[in-house]
This record gives sequence, C-alpha cells and structure tokens, in this order.
Amino acid sequence: MARQERFVVKAVLLLGLTFLSSVVQGAEPNYSLDFDVTKFGAEANGDKNNAQAFTETWAKACGSGAPAKVLIPSGTFLTGPVVFSGPCKSAITVEVRGIVKATTDLKEYADGDWILFENIDGLLLTGGGTFDGQGAASWKLKDCNPQHSATKCDLLPISIKFNHVNNAVVTGINSLNSKGFHILLVFCQNFKASNLNITAPDESPNTDGIHLSLSSLVNITNSKIGTGDDCVSIGHGSTDISVSQITCGPGHGISVGSLGNKPDEMDVNGITVFNCTLINTTNGLRIKTKRGSASLKASRIFYDNIILDKVKNPIIIDQNYGAKKNEPSRVKITDVHYKNIKGTSITNVGVNLNCSSVVPCDGVELVGVDLAFDVGSAKKAEANLPFSSSCANAEAKFEGKISPPPC
Ligand SMILES: *[C@@H]1O[C@H](CO)[C@@H](O)[C@H](O)[C@H]1NC(C)=O
Ligand SMILES: *[C@@H]1O[C@H](CO)[C@@H](O)[C@H](O)[C@H]1NC(C)=O
Ligand SMILES: *[C@@H]1O[C@H](CO)[C@@H](O)[C@H](O)[C@H]1NC(C)=O
Ligand SMILES: *[C@@H]1O[C@H](CO)[C@@H](O)[C@H](O)[C@H]1NC(C)=O
Ligand SMILES: *[C@@H]1O[C@H](CO)[C@@H](O)[C@H](O)[C@H]1NC(C)=O
Ligand SMILES: *[C@@H]1O[C@H](CO)[C@@H](O)[C@H](O)[C@H]1NC(C)=O
Repeated sequence: MARQERFVVKAVLLLGLTFLSSVVQGAEPNYSLDFDVTKFGAEANGDKNNAQAFTETWAKACGSGAPAKVLIPSGTFLTGPVVFSGPCKSAITVEVRGIVKATTDLKEYADGDWILFENIDGLLLTGGGTFDGQGAASWKLKDCNPQHSATKCDLLPISIKFNHVNNAVVTGINSLNSKGFHILLVFCQNFKASNLNITAPDESPNTDGIHLSLSSLVNITNSKIGTGDDCVSIGHGSTDISVSQITCGPGHGISVGSLGNKPDEMDVNGITVFNCTLINTTNGLRIKTKRGSASLKASRIFYDNIILDKVKNPIIIDQNYGAKKNEPSRVKITDVHYKNIKGTSITNVGVNLNCSSVVPCDGVELVGVDLAFDVGSAKKAEANLPFSSSCANAEAKFEGKISPPPC
C-alpha cells in the first residue's frame, strides 16, 4: 500500500513536470514516465506467468495522461495472452529489450491471440527485443486436412495482433516461432513497420510474417522475413499499402489475398511493393483469389525493382485458389504493373496469369521482366520444357526485355 501511494505521488509529480516541459518545448514527447514491468511484479525467471504484471503496468502507463513508456527490460519473461487495450490518455511506447516468451498450453488461448494491442491512437513498439511464440510445441497439433478431421480447423494463436491501432510505429522488434501468424493488423490506419526480423522454420504451418486486412496507409519496410507461409499477405479491405526493402525467404512470398474467402469482403486498392528480394520462396509476387467468391475488386497494384531468386512461381495471379468450389472467382483484378523484375525460376512457367473466366484480368502490364530458368533446381520432368509464360483470361501488355517470352 505504502509503496503504491509513494508511487502515485511520484507519478503525479513527474506527470506535472513532464506536462510543463512538453508545454515549454511544445514538440517531442518526453518519455520520462517509465513504467518498468519489474516494478509491477514481473519476474524474468522464465517460470512465472507475467501476464498480470504486464497488464497492470500497461493500465498505469495508458492512464497516466502523459506520453508514457512500458519497459520490458532484458531477461526472459514468460507470459500467456495479454491485452494492451486503449484508448490511452496520451501516446504510448512499449519498449521491449528482453525476450517475451509465450506459454505453450493452447487452452489458455481461447481468444486466438497472444499479445493484443487494441483501440490505441499513437503507439510506438520498439526496443530490439524478441517475442518468442514457442510455436514448435503446437505446430504438430495442427491438422487442417479435412480427411483427418471433420471439424473446422481453427488457426493457431497470433503472436502480435493490432486491432484498431492508428498512428503507430513498430520498429526494431524480433518475432520468433509464432504459433499462428506472427503479426496481424486489422482496422489499422497510418501504421509504419520497419526493422523487423520475423523468423520461423520453412515447414511451420500458417506462420505468415505480416498479414493485414481492413487497413490503410500501412508502410512495411526494411525487414527480414522467413517463415513457413507468406512473408507479407495483404487481405481484403487494404488500401494504400506500401511494402519495400523486404528480404523474404523461406516462405510463400508476398501475396495479395487470398481474397474472396467470405461473402462480405471489401475491395483492395493501391498496393505498392518495391525494392524487395525473395529467395527460395514457393511464390514470388502472387495475387490469389478464391473460386466461388462474391464480387470484389482488386486494383492499382504496383511491383517495382524486385529480385526473385530460385522461386517456384515468380509472377503468379491465381484466381483458382482453393479449388473446392466449381464456380469461378468473381474478384475483378485490374491495373496491375510488374516493372523491373529480375531473377530465377525453378519451374518452367515463370509468369502465370490464371484469371477468372467471368471477370477476366485487365490492365496487366509487364515492363522489363528478366527471369531465367534455373534448370539445375527444376524437377527432372520440367527441365526439358521451354521456359514460358501462361495466360488465361488475362489482357496483358508486355514491354522491354521480357523473359520468359510473353504469352
Ligand atoms: C524529460 O523530462 C525530464 C523531467 O521532467 C527532464 O529532466 C528531461 O530533460 C526531459 N527530456 C527531454 C528530452 O526533454
Ligand atoms: C535483425 O537481424 C539483423 C541481422 O540479421 C540484426 O543486425 C538486427 O539487429 C536484427 N534486428 C533486431 C531488431 O534485433
Ligand atoms: C509510405 O510509403 C509510401 C510509398 O513508398 C511513401 O510515399 C510514403 O511517404 C510512406 N509514408 C510514410 C509515413 O512513411
Ligand atoms: C529503391 O531502389 C532504388 C534503386 O536501387 C533506389 O534508388 C531507391 O532509393 C530505393 N528506395 C528505397 C525507399 O529504398
Ligand atoms: C535455399 O535453399 C537451398 C536448398 O534448400 C539451400 O541450400 C540454401 O541455403 C537456401 N538459400 C537461402 C538464401 O536460404
Ligand atoms: C489455371 O487454373 C486451372 C484451374 O485450377 C488449372 O487447371 C490450370 O492448370 C492453371 N493453369 C496454369 C498454367 O497453372
């Protein structure tokens, strides 16, 4: 009690000082209000579940009324699910210097998330630390093969989810071995992610690096992503998204989609992917839409200055994704530009535009696509086939040097 009272007095004093100094300076937030989780009972002994200490620290920082910082110092802090919920009274920083490690009992994760940030305006997540989802224990439990299990296959818990988080910067963070997706953004606006290392083994199921939907003005840059699924996947309702300087691999590449999973999805508009390198990925630049989808639009998609090395499907539009239903996809894809793309393909089809028979792709443009067939890495049966492009229901224009030859 006494400690808490002293704390409150100190906090109020500091708060006043900070307020004054920020009024005087009138600009940069002053993060003199540090809320260290170890002051709220967190212990870096690798044993204690620190969820409650984290939540209490957050509540104090979030309610402090001045720009405050939650500090997770060096050390390994075990925790189950934590919700960092706003709105906060002011902008807030979470600085992770240590390792935040997930508990492994899936029963704790009924809500499907591990670390959830929600309803926050003005968030900085940084510190050079690591979120370790300890996914290996649960990957083997996931069996989504409908022949093995009749029940709907739920995705494993997401490591770091941002729900309704606006004006956010996430920089200098490592995410390791998530159970499900590493990072998910939904309903976020004006969001910058950079200097991230996102890592999980090639064979880990659905460990997408960054997935986003229903979000706008999102910049993802300067990061290294290697997982068992998409490096970055851009879902429905995404507008004005920029992805640059990403090194991707292993994984399934950079995807728009899959789109048309549900009847009430929103259009995708304004996606820019530039200065990225993808190595050893199954797909390079992929747009995927489901068969039997509702009507939807995906337009203004720009790819520029991309290196694709030893990639299975370097450039692919797949509107026959999830071939369960026999009806075509009704996602209309228009205005897609591939510019200055170099590298190697390990299959003989370097460019595959497999569009919808009811709403064909139009306004597809390839300018300077210079891919080579890496015959040595190809399957024997394909090694003797000509390196080619394949187009179905696609109106495409080819310009400059184009390899494989245009269809
Ligand atoms: C932040 O506030 C503290 C205490 O009010 C002050 O000592 C410090 O100089 C300030 N820092 C900056 C960068 O303004
Ligand atoms: C990410 O990894 C690179 C080396 O691969 C390292 O230089 C960088 O500091 C790491 N980033 C973080 C946030 O630790
Ligand atoms: C986001 O990326 C776009 C395209 O690269 C760029 O024009 C814009 O300035 C970036 N915005 C921020 C806030 O970095
Ligand atoms: C992208 O690459 C081009 C060419 O290498 C370079 O001029 C440009 O500065 C890069 N842009 C960014 C944002 O890294
Ligand atoms: C690509 O995969 C090959 C074969 O699996 C492996 O030897 C190589 O190290 C990988 N390269 C990179 C950059 O991951
Ligand atoms: C295009 O999709 C159809 C339907 O899934 C498939 O049969 C065909 O092989 C695909 N074409 C290419 C070149 O992948």
